[in-house]
Amino acid sequence: MATLAQPESPVTAVEAAPKHWKDGNPEASDLSHIPGEAGWPLVGNTFKMLADPHAFTRRMVETYGRVYRTRAFGGWNVAMVGAEANELVLFNKDKIFSSEQGWGPVLDQLFPRGLMLIDFDHHRIDRRALSIAFKPEPMRHYSGALNRGIAREVAKWEGDMLFQPAIKQLTLDLAADSFLGIPWGPEADKINTAFVDMVQASVAPVRVPLPFTKMKKGVDGRAYMVEYLTKETERRRAEGGGQDMFSQFATATREDGSLLPVDEVVDHMSFLMMAAHDTITSSATSMIFLLAKNPEWQAKLREEIVAVTGGPDGSGEPRAVDYADLAKLELTEMAFKETLRFIPPVPSMPRRALKSFEFGGYHIPAGTPVGINLYWTHHSEEYWDDPFTFDPMRFTPDKVKARHKYAWVPFGGGAHMCLGLHFAYMQIKILMAQILQRYEIVVEEGYDPDWQPWPIPQPKDGLQVKFRKI
Ligand code: HEM
Repeated sequence: MATLAQPESPVTAVEAAPKHWKDGNPEASDLSHIPGEAGWPLVGNTFKMLADPHAFTRRMVETYGRVYRTRAFGGWNVAMVGAEANELVLFNKDKIFSSEQGWGPVLDQLFPRGLMLIDFDHHRIDRRALSIAFKPEPMRHYSGALNRGIAREVAKWEGDMLFQPAIKQLTLDLAADSFLGIPWGPEADKINTAFVDMVQASVAPVRVPLPFTKMKKGVDGRAYMVEYLTKETERRRAEGGGQDMFSQFATATREDGSLLPVDEVVDHMSFLMMAAHDTITSSATSMIFLLAKNPEWQAKLREEIVAVTGGPDGSGEPRAVDYADLAKLELTEMAFKETLRFIPPVPSMPRRALKSFEFGGYHIPAGTPVGINLYWTHHSEEYWDDPFTFDPMRFTPDKVKARHKYAWVPFGGGAHMCLGLHFAYMQIKILMAQILQRYEIVVEEGYDPDWQPWPIPQPKDGLQVKFRKI
């Protein structure tokens, strides 16, 4: 095995996966020097992981340490847990880890060639081209659309409601407006249905599009979406697009001045919608729940929001949050960060090692699927006092500075760090401004819903809340 000494990093080798690996996956004997377990025959630890991934990780770390091997979803992989592991994998200084090959098995069929499904130079060039859609001018435009759409909907939310389905629908409708530049209505509904089918298929257990399966609906949804986005890319190029995100993508250029190929615009756009949708839905739901459980924080955030917006207008309606004022909502941002620590919407991230490397005293061969675990790091007493208490004050600048940079990574890090994180902060701040200026968020005494932990955390009952008019 050829090794290449790299004294400044823990990485020691560069080579292809051994030829005897079936489908490029490691055999048990290749990883037998790493502690861990195979789980049940055939299925490995798949069901134990799906049933309660957090308890599973806790047990594995307690039993085997922070680097362990396990067998799940049809193959062996190595889990690396903790802030150092997050830094090694996400910062990816030595280009060891492929995001494309990590996420590919999950996302490639429905969301191929999205940013998380390409690596290195191709990724860098496309990401830079797409970044144009997140510059201040387009962001100001989206903030207007978000303020209008959120105010219109939240005004109807007085009383008892299931929050999760309501915010899911609102996030879809808002995306039609600010992502695609189309008004709410029948056309947006058709696209939303196709899109939801694609998202559901991406985590469906049956991976072939047999009749009546979720995968078949997803594949049909993708065909509709591709046709729509292809036609629209061409139209927006010919006529000049609007200020929505899709129009920005359609006319984005690479470093050499060339437009992105139409099929790539289409794939980037549908991937971005997927990346945005369930993450915002999940984090908004978690934040409402955590604020309901911590009414003193509702009061603090409400006070901050009223101070920044100037409170309700002459007709008693909450004022919109100006784009320029978003940065002033500091406590709201800290409460959102604490929510993302508490319940990270993307609880783990998969990669495949393109080169062999050393970590935690173990040699991990090239070709090994590896994963990092945010949920564990976000709740480890090594980085957080009293980790199961909701405390936004963990995110004061001093506290952040004193902590390991990779102890809090809900948006990932390095080259693939979430491209839409400022959009997420913006949508959540505007949402909280509209809700907290109108309502007190109340849940029944002792209410503690069961959370579905995977693939995206959400309360199984949809989150039963009461919005009590202030
Ligand atoms: C609270 C909300 C969100 C969370 C927690 C979140 C989380 C993440 C994470 C963890 C990654 C990196 C995954 C990895 O490296 O394996 C990511 C990537 C990405 N996110 Fe987000 N996201 C959120 C909202 C959004 C929104 C609103 C958008 C778009 C408007 C978006 C667009 C993207 C894109 C395009 C990528 C791929 C970036 C790349 O590979 O270069 N995300 N997100």
